[in-house]
Parts: sequence; structure tokens; C-alpha cells
Amino acid sequence: MSINFGIQSTLHVAIIMDGNGRWALARGLPRVAGHRAGADAVRRVVEAAPPLGIGTLTVFAFSADNWRRPTAEVSALMELFGRFLRAETERCLANGVRLEVIGRRDRLSDSLQCAIGRAEAATALGTRLRLRIAVDYSGRDAILSAVEGVDLVSRESVEGALGPPVDLLIRTGGERRLSDFLLWECAYAELVFSRRMWPDFGADDLAGAVREFRGRERRFGSVPAAMAAREASWLD
Ligand code: IPE
Ligand code: IPE
Ligand code: MG
Repeated sequence: MSINFGIQSTLHVAIIMDGNGRWALARGLPRVAGHRAGADAVRRVVEAAPPLGIGTLTVFAFSADNWRRPTAEVSALMELFGRFLRAETERCLANGVRLEVIGRRDRLSDSLQCAIGRAEAATALGTRLRLRIAVDYSGRDAILSAVEGVDLVSRESVEGALGPPVDLLIRTGGERRLSDFLLWECAYAELVFSRRMWPDFGADDLAGAVREFRGRERRFGSVPAAMAAREASWLD
């Protein structure tokens, strides 16, 4: 059982925010301009989430493998993240958003670690939306840490050490892969792939993805109740 921190809505949406670099390339701009525009898209989506019934939003901002990028891009991303935290804490507080950062912290700068701690502490009582930002995150490493952190390894204990299961996973930017994001938590996630580059993704796109999700039938390995009843009637 994962703790829900008093958040009312239960829908967990996770987003792989991809396509910042290509967005910039298409405009003749440096990649960092795409990342800057991507930060604005995060703000829009966070605002749009609660009215759609989303209680938890987990966004992939920087993967453990993104350290492989050129140093200048990594530095720019880290600086942007710090700026985002400092600028958004007040807004989160005002809007009942509880901000959390998942992933490794020990490879982040001291000042970034402090900014994360401050933002998390300041927004800890938010109950309208749980916003989880994945930074230096790897799904495989998260599973390993969860397994190492429990006394008795079982499906329940590992599940408890990880985050809540994902209902809907959205990936922007046109690629159709998980890139090491929330591997365990996405066991039964509905997948929506959008061709939109992340900086262009807005409230309408999020609403569209949630609409598509609501139109799908989740079976979790079972058969629909009506189908089970129909089958039972053959046995009469
Ligand atoms: C996603 O956009 C942001 C991060 C991974 C940090 P990309 O930077 O991967 O953009 P593309 O995929 O190169 O267009
Ligand atoms: C996944 O995007 C990570 C984030 C969006 C933060 P990447 O752009 O790094 O993924 P790959 O390399 O295309 O798989
Ligand atoms: Mg990418």
C-alpha cells in the first residue's frame, strides 16, 4: 500500500517530457531554449491536472542516463531545474501542490539538494496535487534500491517502497519507449504516445490523453464482468 498524503483524486499520470531538443532545432535555436520552453509546459500541465481528476503527476525531467549529454547541456538543465524550484515553490504552495523529487540526490550539487529540500518542506501539506519530479532517475535503480531497503522481499513490500502504480503514461516527442522510467509502477499503465514536442504540449493535450484513457477498458488480466456473466450462462 502506498501512502497518498491525503490527496483526494487517485488518478496517477506519468509523463516522459521528450522533444525539447528537436523543438529548438526546428526553430534554429540552441537545445537549452527548448528546455526553457519545456519548463513553461510543466507549469501549464501542473495547472491543468487537478480539474482533470489527476491526484498524482510524475514527470521525467532528467534520467540517470542523461549525464551522458554534453557538459554544457547538463549544466544548463541543472541550473534550469534549480530556477524552476525556486520560482515554483510559492505557486505550488498557493495551489495546494505537494512537490517531491524522486531519483538519486547524491550526484546533484549541494545548492540543488538544498533547493529540493526547501521546496519539499515548504509544500509538504499540499493536498490538491502530488507533483513528483524525476531527476537523475532510473527505473531499474529504483527497483534495486527498493529491494535493498526492505527486510523481507515481497511484491507488497517492494511496491510500498516504490511510488504508486501509474494509471496513464504519456510520452511526448513521438518516440515509443520507456527509457527506464517507472518500470515497475507502469506494469498496467495505459500508454499514450503523442507526436507533439514537449514545449508544445498544453492543457488540451493533457485533457485529450485523459479522455483517451477514460475510454479504454482496463482488464488487469481478467475479463469484463459482462463477459464473465455470459460465459457463466453457458454452464447453466
Ligand atoms: C527531453 O527532451 C528533456 C530531457 C531529456 C532532459 P530532449 O532533450 O530529450 O529532446 P530531444 O529528444 O533531443 O528532442
Ligand atoms: C527520456 O528522454 C528522459 C527524459 C525525458 C527526461 P531521452 O530523450 O533521454 O530518451 P531516449 O534517449 O530518447 O531514450
Ligand atoms: Mg529525447
